[in-house]
Amino acid sequence: MKIGTPSDTVIAQNRRAWNEVAPRHAEQNFEDTRRHLAADPGHYIDPVFRDHLRSLGLEGKVLAQFNCNNGRELLSAIQLGARSGLGFDFSSEFVRQARRLTAAAQVEAEFVETDIYQVPSRYDATADLLFLTAGALCWMPDLPGYFDAARRVVRPGGQVVLYETHPFLEMFKPDRDRRRDEPLDLHYPYFMDEPVAWDSGLDYYSGEKYGREQVYWYHYTLSDIFQAVIGAGLQIRHFAEFDHDNSIGYREAERFPVRPPMSFILSCERP
Ligand SMILES: C[S@@+](CC[C@H](N)C(=O)[O-])C[C@H]1O[C@@H](n2cnc3c(N)ncnc32)[C@H](O)[C@@H]1O
Repeated sequence: MKIGTPSDTVIAQNRRAWNEVAPRHAEQNFEDTRRHLAADPGHYIDPVFRDHLRSLGLEGKVLAQFNCNNGRELLSAIQLGARSGLGFDFSSEFVRQARRLTAAAQVEAEFVETDIYQVPSRYDATADLLFLTAGALCWMPDLPGYFDAARRVVRPGGQVVLYETHPFLEMFKPDRDRRRDEPLDLHYPYFMDEPVAWDSGLDYYSGEKYGREQVYWYHYTLSDIFQAVIGAGLQIRHFAEFDHDNSIGYREAERFPVRPPMSFILSCERP
Protein backbone atom coordinates (compact mmCIF):
# COMPACT_ATOMS: atom_id res chain seq x y z
CA MET A 1 0.00 0.00 0.00
CA LYS A 2 1.17 3.56 -0.66
CA ILE A 3 1.96 5.77 2.31
CA GLY A 4 0.15 9.04 3.00
CA THR A 5 -3.53 9.64 3.66
CA PRO A 6 -5.27 6.57 5.19
CA SER A 7 -7.23 4.42 2.74
CA ASP A 8 -10.62 4.89 4.42
CA THR A 9 -10.30 8.67 4.20
CA VAL A 10 -9.25 8.46 0.55
CA ILE A 11 -12.14 6.18 -0.39
CA ALA A 12 -14.79 8.20 1.46
CA GLN A 13 -13.53 11.47 0.01
CA ASN A 14 -13.20 10.11 -3.53
CA ARG A 15 -16.73 8.69 -3.35
CA ARG A 16 -18.10 12.14 -2.47
CA ALA A 17 -16.20 13.66 -5.39
CA TRP A 18 -17.43 11.05 -7.91
CA ASN A 19 -21.01 11.49 -6.76
CA GLU A 20 -20.59 15.24 -7.01
CA VAL A 21 -19.44 15.11 -10.65
CA ALA A 22 -21.92 12.45 -11.84
CA PRO A 23 -24.78 14.86 -12.69
CA ARG A 24 -22.33 17.09 -14.61
CA HIS A 25 -21.14 14.14 -16.71
CA ALA A 26 -24.76 13.08 -17.28
CA GLU A 27 -25.73 16.52 -18.46
CA GLN A 28 -23.00 16.41 -21.11
CA ASN A 29 -23.14 12.74 -22.14
CA PHE A 30 -26.12 10.76 -20.97
CA GLU A 31 -28.35 11.19 -24.02
CA ASP A 32 -25.48 10.62 -26.46
CA THR A 33 -24.42 7.52 -24.55
CA ARG A 34 -27.96 6.17 -24.60
CA ARG A 35 -28.16 6.77 -28.36
CA HIS A 36 -24.81 5.10 -29.09
CA LEU A 37 -25.63 2.06 -26.95
CA ALA A 38 -28.95 1.63 -28.73
CA ALA A 39 -27.70 2.19 -32.28
CA ASP A 40 -24.15 0.85 -32.37
CA PRO A 41 -23.47 -2.37 -30.42
CA GLY A 42 -19.94 -2.38 -28.98
CA HIS A 43 -19.53 1.38 -29.51
CA TYR A 44 -17.45 2.02 -26.36
CA ILE A 45 -14.96 -0.82 -26.89
CA ASP A 46 -12.18 0.37 -29.21
CA PRO A 47 -10.79 -1.93 -31.94
CA VAL A 48 -7.64 -2.87 -29.98
CA PHE A 49 -9.57 -3.97 -26.91
CA ARG A 50 -12.30 -5.54 -29.02
CA ASP A 51 -9.75 -7.76 -30.77
CA HIS A 52 -8.25 -8.79 -27.46
CA LEU A 53 -11.61 -9.63 -25.87
CA ARG A 54 -12.61 -11.57 -28.97
CA SER A 55 -9.34 -13.52 -28.84
CA LEU A 56 -10.36 -14.66 -25.34
CA GLY A 57 -13.85 -15.54 -26.55
CA LEU A 58 -16.93 -13.65 -25.38
CA GLU A 59 -19.66 -15.98 -26.54
CA GLY A 60 -21.97 -16.93 -23.67
CA LYS A 61 -19.71 -15.49 -20.97
CA VAL A 62 -20.53 -13.55 -17.84
CA LEU A 63 -18.42 -10.37 -17.93
CA ALA A 64 -17.60 -8.14 -14.98
CA GLN A 65 -16.05 -4.69 -14.75
CA PHE A 66 -14.49 -2.99 -11.73
CA ASN A 67 -14.79 0.84 -11.61
CA CYS A 68 -17.49 0.61 -14.26
CA ASN A 69 -18.68 4.23 -13.94
CA ASN A 70 -21.93 4.66 -15.95
CA GLY A 71 -21.58 1.17 -17.39
CA ARG A 72 -21.11 2.23 -21.01
CA GLU A 73 -18.05 0.00 -21.55
CA LEU A 74 -19.50 -3.04 -19.82
CA LEU A 75 -22.79 -2.71 -21.72
CA SER A 76 -20.87 -2.36 -25.00
CA ALA A 77 -18.72 -5.39 -24.23
CA ILE A 78 -21.78 -7.54 -23.46
CA GLN A 79 -23.22 -6.47 -26.81
CA LEU A 80 -20.26 -8.14 -28.52
CA GLY A 81 -21.69 -11.56 -27.72
CA ALA A 82 -21.46 -12.17 -23.98
CA ARG A 83 -24.35 -13.63 -21.99
CA SER A 84 -24.56 -10.95 -19.26
CA GLY A 85 -22.52 -8.60 -17.11
CA LEU A 86 -21.82 -7.41 -13.58
CA GLY A 87 -20.62 -3.85 -13.00
CA PHE A 88 -19.09 -2.66 -9.72
CA ASP A 89 -18.64 0.99 -8.72
CA PHE A 90 -18.90 2.85 -5.41
CA SER A 91 -20.76 5.87 -6.82
CA SER A 92 -24.51 5.61 -6.25
CA GLU A 93 -25.02 8.31 -8.88
CA PHE A 94 -23.07 6.55 -11.63
CA VAL A 95 -24.63 3.19 -10.75
CA ARG A 96 -28.05 4.82 -11.13
CA GLN A 97 -27.05 6.07 -14.61
CA ALA A 98 -25.73 2.60 -15.53
CA ARG A 99 -29.03 0.97 -14.58
CA ARG A 100 -30.91 3.45 -16.76
CA LEU A 101 -28.57 2.81 -19.72
CA THR A 102 -29.03 -0.97 -19.51
CA ALA A 103 -32.45 -0.81 -21.16
CA ALA A 104 -31.02 1.10 -24.15
CA ALA A 105 -28.26 -1.48 -24.62
CA GLN A 106 -30.81 -4.33 -24.57
CA VAL A 107 -28.53 -6.69 -22.68
CA GLU A 108 -28.65 -8.40 -19.31
CA ALA A 109 -26.56 -6.57 -16.70
CA GLU A 110 -26.52 -5.99 -12.95
CA PHE A 111 -24.82 -2.93 -11.46
CA VAL A 112 -23.61 -3.17 -7.88
CA GLU A 113 -22.92 -0.10 -5.75
CA THR A 114 -19.88 -1.06 -3.70
CA ASP A 115 -16.36 -0.09 -2.79
CA ILE A 116 -14.16 -2.58 -4.67
CA TYR A 117 -12.52 -3.61 -1.38
CA GLN A 118 -15.97 -4.55 -0.02
CA VAL A 119 -17.50 -6.53 -2.93
CA PRO A 120 -20.05 -8.84 -1.22
CA SER A 121 -19.05 -12.52 -1.11
CA ARG A 122 -22.18 -13.53 -3.04
CA TYR A 123 -20.28 -12.38 -6.15
CA ASP A 124 -17.36 -14.75 -5.52
CA ALA A 125 -16.51 -16.84 -8.62
CA THR A 126 -19.46 -15.41 -10.59
CA ALA A 127 -17.62 -13.94 -13.62
CA ASP A 128 -15.87 -15.65 -16.53
CA LEU A 129 -13.93 -12.54 -17.45
CA LEU A 130 -13.40 -9.41 -15.37
CA PHE A 131 -11.94 -6.28 -16.96
CA LEU A 132 -10.96 -2.78 -15.99
CA THR A 133 -10.10 0.13 -18.23
CA ALA A 134 -8.40 3.53 -18.25
CA GLY A 135 -8.57 5.44 -15.01
CA ALA A 136 -9.42 2.59 -12.64
CA LEU A 137 -6.19 1.75 -10.79
CA CYS A 138 -5.25 5.36 -9.97
CA TRP A 139 -8.15 5.59 -7.49
CA MET A 140 -7.18 2.53 -5.52
CA PRO A 141 -5.04 3.01 -2.39
CA ASP A 142 -4.15 -0.69 -2.12
CA LEU A 143 -3.33 -2.54 -5.36
CA PRO A 144 -2.74 -6.00 -3.79
CA GLY A 145 -6.17 -5.75 -2.11
CA TYR A 146 -7.71 -4.69 -5.43
CA PHE A 147 -6.40 -7.73 -7.33
CA ASP A 148 -7.40 -10.02 -4.46
CA ALA A 149 -10.95 -8.74 -5.00
CA ALA A 150 -10.64 -9.30 -8.77
CA ARG A 151 -9.41 -12.87 -8.29
CA ARG A 152 -12.29 -13.56 -5.90
CA VAL A 153 -14.98 -12.42 -8.38
CA VAL A 154 -13.58 -14.48 -11.28
CA ARG A 155 -14.19 -18.23 -11.38
CA PRO A 156 -11.20 -20.59 -11.50
CA GLY A 157 -10.00 -20.69 -15.12
CA GLY A 158 -11.48 -17.22 -15.77
CA GLN A 159 -9.64 -14.10 -16.88
CA VAL A 160 -8.74 -10.73 -15.37
CA VAL A 161 -7.95 -8.20 -18.11
CA LEU A 162 -6.51 -4.71 -17.65
CA TYR A 163 -6.64 -2.12 -20.44
CA GLU A 164 -5.14 0.84 -18.64
CA THR A 165 -3.27 4.09 -19.11
CA HIS A 166 0.47 3.40 -19.29
CA PRO A 167 2.24 4.54 -16.10
CA PHE A 168 4.83 6.36 -18.20
CA LEU A 169 2.10 8.59 -19.67
CA GLU A 170 1.01 9.55 -16.16
CA MET A 171 4.31 11.39 -15.73
CA PHE A 172 2.83 14.09 -17.96
CA LYS A 173 0.16 16.53 -16.80
CA PRO A 174 -3.19 15.46 -18.29
CA ASP A 175 -4.51 17.80 -21.01
CA ARG A 176 -7.15 19.26 -18.68
CA ASP A 177 -4.52 20.49 -16.19
CA ARG A 178 -2.39 22.42 -18.67
CA ARG A 179 -2.84 25.97 -19.85
CA ARG A 180 -3.36 26.17 -23.60
CA ASP A 181 0.16 27.50 -24.15
CA GLU A 182 1.83 25.12 -21.68
CA PRO A 183 4.08 22.50 -23.30
CA LEU A 184 3.53 18.83 -22.58
CA ASP A 185 6.54 18.09 -20.37
CA LEU A 186 7.37 15.47 -17.81
CA HIS A 187 5.78 16.70 -14.59
CA TYR A 188 5.22 13.89 -12.08
CA PRO A 189 8.01 11.55 -10.92
CA TYR A 190 7.65 7.92 -12.05
CA PHE A 191 8.13 6.72 -8.47
CA MET A 192 5.65 8.35 -6.07
CA ASP A 193 4.70 7.17 -2.58
CA GLU A 194 2.16 9.87 -1.80
CA PRO A 195 -1.16 10.33 -3.59
CA VAL A 196 -1.80 13.48 -5.59
CA ALA A 197 -4.44 15.63 -3.84
CA TRP A 198 -6.58 17.53 -6.34
CA ASP A 199 -9.40 19.96 -5.65
CA SER A 200 -10.51 21.22 -9.06
CA GLY A 201 -13.16 18.59 -9.69
CA LEU A 202 -13.49 15.65 -12.05
CA ASP A 203 -15.21 17.19 -15.02
CA TYR A 204 -12.71 15.85 -17.52
CA TYR A 205 -15.25 16.16 -20.35
CA SER A 206 -15.72 19.94 -20.26
CA GLY A 207 -12.40 20.63 -18.50
CA GLU A 208 -14.28 23.06 -16.26
CA LYS A 209 -12.85 23.41 -12.76
CA TYR A 210 -15.64 23.63 -10.18
CA GLY A 211 -13.57 22.34 -7.24
CA ARG A 212 -15.53 21.51 -4.12
CA GLU A 213 -14.68 17.95 -3.16
CA GLN A 214 -10.99 17.06 -2.94
CA VAL A 215 -9.85 13.80 -4.58
CA TYR A 216 -6.75 11.67 -4.18
CA TRP A 217 -5.17 9.60 -6.89
CA TYR A 218 -2.13 7.39 -7.10
CA HIS A 219 0.62 6.90 -9.62
CA TYR A 220 1.60 3.27 -9.90
CA THR A 221 4.61 1.90 -11.75
CA LEU A 222 4.40 -1.08 -14.08
CA SER A 223 6.25 -3.11 -11.45
CA ASP A 224 3.67 -2.13 -8.77
CA ILE A 225 0.95 -3.46 -11.08
CA PHE A 226 2.75 -6.68 -12.06
CA GLN A 227 3.71 -7.44 -8.46
CA ALA A 228 0.14 -6.91 -7.24
CA VAL A 229 -1.24 -9.19 -9.96
CA ILE A 230 1.34 -11.90 -9.23
CA GLY A 231 0.85 -11.50 -5.47
CA ALA A 232 -2.90 -12.10 -5.90
CA GLY A 233 -2.12 -15.49 -7.43
CA LEU A 234 -3.11 -14.56 -10.98
CA GLN A 235 -1.11 -16.04 -13.86
CA ILE A 236 0.01 -13.61 -16.54
CA ARG A 237 -0.91 -14.76 -20.05
CA HIS A 238 -0.45 -11.70 -22.26
CA PHE A 239 1.08 -8.23 -22.07
CA ALA A 240 1.12 -5.56 -24.81
CA GLU A 241 1.97 -1.84 -24.85
CA PHE A 242 0.45 0.69 -27.25
CA ASP A 243 1.19 4.19 -28.51
CA HIS A 244 -2.42 5.43 -28.35
CA ASP A 245 -4.26 7.10 -25.45
CA ASN A 246 -7.16 4.89 -24.36
CA SER A 247 -8.52 7.54 -21.97
CA ILE A 248 -9.47 11.04 -23.03
CA GLY A 249 -6.78 12.48 -20.77
CA TYR A 250 -3.69 12.72 -22.94
CA ARG A 251 -4.79 13.24 -26.56
CA GLU A 252 -2.08 15.87 -27.00
CA ALA A 253 0.60 13.18 -26.51
CA GLU A 254 -0.67 11.43 -29.64
CA ARG A 255 0.69 14.42 -31.59
CA PHE A 256 4.30 13.87 -30.43
CA PRO A 257 6.49 12.98 -33.42
CA VAL A 258 8.07 10.29 -31.23
CA ARG A 259 5.28 8.73 -29.24
CA PRO A 260 5.70 7.44 -25.67
CA PRO A 261 3.93 4.27 -24.48
CA MET A 262 0.39 5.38 -23.71
CA SER A 263 -1.70 2.33 -22.83
CA PHE A 264 -1.32 -1.39 -22.18
CA ILE A 265 -3.22 -4.64 -21.98
CA LEU A 266 -2.32 -7.13 -19.26
CA SER A 267 -4.30 -10.36 -19.34
CA CYS A 268 -4.21 -12.90 -16.52
CA GLU A 269 -5.90 -16.14 -15.58
CA ARG A 270 -7.19 -17.30 -12.21
CA PRO A 271 -5.72 -20.81 -11.78
C1 LIG B 1 -12.30 7.32 -14.45
S1 LIG B 1 -13.70 6.36 -13.98
C2 LIG B 1 -13.54 4.93 -15.01
C3 LIG B 1 -13.93 5.31 -16.35
C4 LIG B 1 -14.19 4.15 -17.27
N1 LIG B 1 -12.95 3.72 -17.87
C5 LIG B 1 -15.17 4.64 -18.29
O1 LIG B 1 -14.71 5.19 -19.30
O2 LIG B 1 -16.37 4.52 -18.04
C6 LIG B 1 -13.23 5.69 -12.39
C7 LIG B 1 -14.40 5.08 -11.62
O3 LIG B 1 -13.87 4.47 -10.45
C8 LIG B 1 -14.84 4.57 -9.44
N2 LIG B 1 -14.15 4.33 -8.16
C9 LIG B 1 -13.11 5.04 -7.63
N3 LIG B 1 -12.73 4.49 -6.46
C10 LIG B 1 -13.52 3.39 -6.24
C11 LIG B 1 -13.61 2.41 -5.21
N4 LIG B 1 -12.82 2.46 -4.13
N5 LIG B 1 -14.53 1.43 -5.33
C12 LIG B 1 -15.38 1.39 -6.41
N6 LIG B 1 -15.35 2.29 -7.42
C13 LIG B 1 -14.42 3.29 -7.33
C14 LIG B 1 -15.44 5.97 -9.62
O4 LIG B 1 -16.73 6.09 -9.07
C15 LIG B 1 -15.44 6.09 -11.15
O5 LIG B 1 -16.70 5.74 -11.68
